[in-house]
Amino acid sequence: MTISVGFLGAGNIATYHSKSLRASGADASWVAVHDPDGERAAHFGAATHATVFETPEEVVDRSEAVYVCTWTSEHEHLVTLAAEAGKAVFCEKPLGIDLAQAQRIVDTVERAGVVNQVGLVLRRAPIFHLLRDITLRPESGELLSFTFRDDQFLPVQGRYASTWRADVDKAGAGVLIEHSIHDIDLLEWMFGPIRAVSATARYVHRIEGIEDSIAVHLSFESGLHGVMLSVWHDLLDRISNRDVEVFGTTLWARLHGEWFGDLSWNHGDESHHLEGQALVTEAARVSPRAGENPDGAFVGAVASGRPAYPELRVALRAHEIVDACYRSVASGGAMVEI
Ligand SMILES: NC(=O)c1ccc[n+]([C@@H]2O[C@H](COP(=O)([O-])OP(=O)(O)OC[C@H]3O[C@@H](n4cnc5c(N)ncnc54)[C@H](O)[C@@H]3O)[C@@H](O)[C@H]2O)c1
Repeated sequence: MTISVGFLGAGNIATYHSKSLRASGADASWVAVHDPDGERAAHFGAATHATVFETPEEVVDRSEAVYVCTWTSEHEHLVTLAAEAGKAVFCEKPLGIDLAQAQRIVDTVERAGVVNQVGLVLRRAPIFHLLRDITLRPESGELLSFTFRDDQFLPVQGRYASTWRADVDKAGAGVLIEHSIHDIDLLEWMFGPIRAVSATARYVHRIEGIEDSIAVHLSFESGLHGVMLSVWHDLLDRISNRDVEVFGTTLWARLHGEWFGDLSWNHGDESHHLEGQALVTEAARVSPRAGENPDGAFVGAVASGRPAYPELRVALRAHEIVDACYRSVASGGAMVEI
């Protein structure tokens, strides 16, 4: 059964999903695209053979599944348009510019009862699946603490050159909501419920409302604690880098990468190191979802009518934690219970 797919937004991430969907081999046809930037829409249409439309309504009319890949502030009305027309929706993260918008978006898709998936793509990253599995092994002992560092160049420049990320009304805020919402989601997925956070932020690039570095202390219900540091700098060759270190009573693990990468770990005097294809193979062995193509999975869910993964509600939880971090920043770093 061929699923007709439409795109709202024809920028970087729409192009990424379109190529990824093609690579997945899913049975889909590219039927429609809309972007107020006519040049981008035309380019996307030419590359995919999707018809370019002047309005989002026309895209929704012609599609069974709609990708919402616009800047963040536009997600709510476009998701609403698609969901209320009964169409399946893939919405990029963050869902909205703040928690209230994210909550309304989730309410809308759930009321409509449509298949829905959020772009928290790292939920399928082989390297994080493997790290998670290692931390859960009995030989790791009790988890003690972690550091999670994420850096990329401030994406208003370089290959992204997206001016909307410097506009708080379009992006919501800076590096935490726009980029490290992935990391907050991964941390809870790997380590269980987060109980409280405290955070401080900096605004070195002097862009109103857009923090360019944030340090978050996280306490988990299990007793685990750790620190997440996320940075936007001006090193244009550092596109996106994650370095994570985890200690258990009998575990040291270090990850560098984000989908692929390398992972080293010790249990007592046993040392391990995996990278490249060997890492991907091992991750797929320990977790069937590791390395799955998110776009193929979405279209597959639409075709079968099964729920997609991760649904928008998963991102709502990450928004709750992000919101608690920003409340902590606003209060000078106070501990905020979630
Ligand atoms: N999952 C991920 O890892 C990931 C990575 C990058 C971006 N994103 C998210 O994807 C979204 C888009 O980011 P991007 O990097 O593609 O930005 P981008 O600037 O490359 O593209 C955004 C496009 O949206 C278009 N647009 C704006 N309003 C629109 C509307 N009402 N209808 C249709 N199109 C509209 C713009 O003209 C632009 O072409 C953001 O929410 C961003 O946070 C997610």
